Amino acid sequence: MADAQRLDIPEFTSDTRLAGRTAIVTGAGSAGEMGGTGSDIAVLLAAKGANVMILDVDEARAWHTAEAVERVGGTCLVAIADITEQEECEDAVDKCVREFGGVDILVNNAAIAPGEQENLRSMWDKIIALNLTAVKLMSDAVLPSMFEKGAGSIIHITSVAGLRAGGGIGYSASKGGLIAMAKAQAYEYGPRGVRVNTVAPGHVAIPMGLGFAGWNGGGTGEMRRRRAKATMLGTEGTGWDVAFAVLYLASDEASYVTGHTIPVDGGTTEVFPIVMAETIVGDGSGSL
Ligand SMILES: NC(=O)c1ccc[n+]([C@@H]2O[C@H](COP(=O)([O-])OP(=O)(O)OC[C@H]3O[C@@H](n4cnc5c(N)ncnc54)[C@H](O)[C@@H]3O)[C@@H](O)[C@H]2O)c1
Repeated sequence: MADAQRLDIPEFTSDTRLAGRTAIVTGAGSAGEMGGTGSDIAVLLAAKGANVMILDVDEARAWHTAEAVERVGGTCLVAIADITEQEECEDAVDKCVREFGGVDILVNNAAIAPGEQENLRSMWDKIIALNLTAVKLMSDAVLPSMFEKGAGSIIHITSVAGLRAGGGIGYSASKGGLIAMAKAQAYEYGPRGVRVNTVAPGHVAIPMGLGFAGWNGGGTGEMRRRRAKATMLGTEGTGWDVAFAVLYLASDEASYVTGHTIPVDGGTTEVFPIVMAETIVGDGSGSL
């Protein structure tokens, strides 16, 4: 990875909270200094002692995150797979079980959020295949190992777009589907010790979110200001904020939490849009 910028890692304490556990994070690859949620989750879980499989379809991106895991003193394994293919999911999980002896944590993070300016069937199929079907395939692939252990934590990364309109038809359907699927999985697998929850990021400053806001396409920053002002806190979140919610759900501290969604959204889904409107559109002083 000679040319890639190093992934930016904030100061946090490494510890052994997840020692002896193995986690698979899908879409954990990254490029450049700003990581996405997948890479931040992989680095944080590794810093907390888990063995982490960095699973991505893009080899260069996967190794970029692996370098960051190494920097925090973590242990990781790279697997290159297209998780829309059942066999590739199963092969990746087999590789993880061979290397680390089982799977305790699965984080279903990989997703696409393409602009859905046109209501195309082809776009719908692509979104559902990765954002929803692949999550089912990966969950099914890890279940035998979790059932054998009588324990496991599966976390789907959904979105506030699964709770509110405005993020696109296919994307919202896929992310809302994950919330419903997690409840159904939690019900089915709870008696066998497997917990299933989701984390719903809001306006987080990661490449995917900023691309959606026009950042990569030369956006002016006005959209970012509005994203920040749409929250109760007045700020955008980060991939690390999402990663800390995942860490909680992955750990024993959450052993009685299943079937739920944790929004990491600065409160944006819990406030009347009408009271935020002045702040978002105006200069922040409350006057339009
Ligand atoms: N603000 C936001 O951007 C926002 C808001 C709400 C929710 N989310 C959700 O948060 C997550 C963001 O993920 P990220 O920041 O890691 O995204 P990212 O785009 O940085 O990384 C996604 C990774 O998935 C990989 N991938 C794509 N297709 C794949 C496939 N078929 N098989 C395996 N890997 C594949 C890509 O190579 C890429 O490395 C997504 O689930 C997204 O829906 C984002």
